[in-house]
Amino acid sequence: MHRLALTDEDKQARDLFVQWLKELGLEITVDEMGNIFGKRKGRSPQLPMVLSGSHLDTQPKGGRFDGILGVTGALEALRTIHENHIDTERSIAIVDWTDEEGTRFAPAMLGSGVWAGYFDRDWAYSRADLAGKSFGEALERIGYRGKTQARKWPVHAYYEFHIEQGPVLEKMGKQIGVPKGILGITWFDVYVEGQANQAGPTPMNARKDALVAAAEMILKVNDLPPKMGGDLVATVGEIQNFPNSRNIIPDRVRFTVDIRSWDDPFKNQAAEAIKKEFPQIGQKRGCSVRMEVIWEIPHTVFASNLVIRVEKVASLLGYSNYSMVSGAGHDAAYVCRVAPTAMIFVPSIGGRSHVEVERTRWEDCEAGANVLLHCLLQSANE
Ligand code: GLV
Ligand code: MN
Ligand code: MN
Repeated sequence: MHRLALTDEDKQARDLFVQWLKELGLEITVDEMGNIFGKRKGRSPQLPMVLSGSHLDTQPKGGRFDGILGVTGALEALRTIHENHIDTERSIAIVDWTDEEGTRFAPAMLGSGVWAGYFDRDWAYSRADLAGKSFGEALERIGYRGKTQARKWPVHAYYEFHIEQGPVLEKMGKQIGVPKGILGITWFDVYVEGQANQAGPTPMNARKDALVAAAEMILKVNDLPPKMGGDLVATVGEIQNFPNSRNIIPDRVRFTVDIRSWDDPFKNQAAEAIKKEFPQIGQKRGCSVRMEVIWEIPHTVFASNLVIRVEKVASLLGYSNYSMVSGAGHDAAYVCRVAPTAMIFVPSIGGRSHVEVERTRWEDCEAGANVLLHCLLQSANE
């Protein structure tokens, strides 16, 4: 699965999703961020609706479950409600949020972030990929720039069903994860500039090697969590090196930094360490450094009444469950800031995710979808 946001592959998945929504007779809305909603009317459509979904975009070769399970799980729940001729008091809607992954257009969760009012729409449109194409152009090109304003409306409850993406549930032998929230995240873009030169004649002490400076910075990032302790995790996942020739000393490097913790001041402390130490490394190696914090989201605490509901429903259906924290980011982080929100997790085999072998057992997918179905019904009948 290789379906970066707003590519032809994303369009194909969206088209199929819209077709499935139509087959179910749902009322379809595409907003100006390309978020797709499918609504099934309740008996009291004037009441705030219940919402559920996730994302259909993926990481590079990033797995078939991350996000997709939450969209197709909600679709399956609505199909079940529909086929059993169940009327609900409130309307229930499914959503596919645009660009959750943030791989092609950073930061992540641009669709839900704009909808919730945390990002400006035009700023989101202006975000560019590595080829210089903007989010707005790409959205227009695949035909998913809708007319409806991407603006939050009253939501009674939002449930996001997702794979865990980590090793906890498998290790604990539990079938359903009940996250109480999501770690805070900070993303940096870092630009290092040195001087290009011939690899042979240039003496070692006369170099301004941007890649070597970046390498030292990357090790610094990796050393932060063991040095600082707590639950801090820190990752450099993306790098571009120029001119990228084996016999030229590199003069330009761009790389990313991702740091996460539940403890926001602690994460900010890590960010400050990076801001202080990178220029020192640059100076030592004759390179200039520019750092941009392109994203910052504090940790998220889900609505306790909905978290308790997920737990109770899982127990009632006979599924073992476990209270935990999400290390992965989700659209639920932005929706939670404007509406009561909870998530439902199922185990990831071997704790592997954002990779091609990402997998979850079908019986676990079914269990999670059943929990989602009953949570939706309960909230929709309140
Ligand atoms: C979302 O995929 C994340 O980076 O956690
Ligand atoms: Mn996801
Ligand atoms: Mn992901």
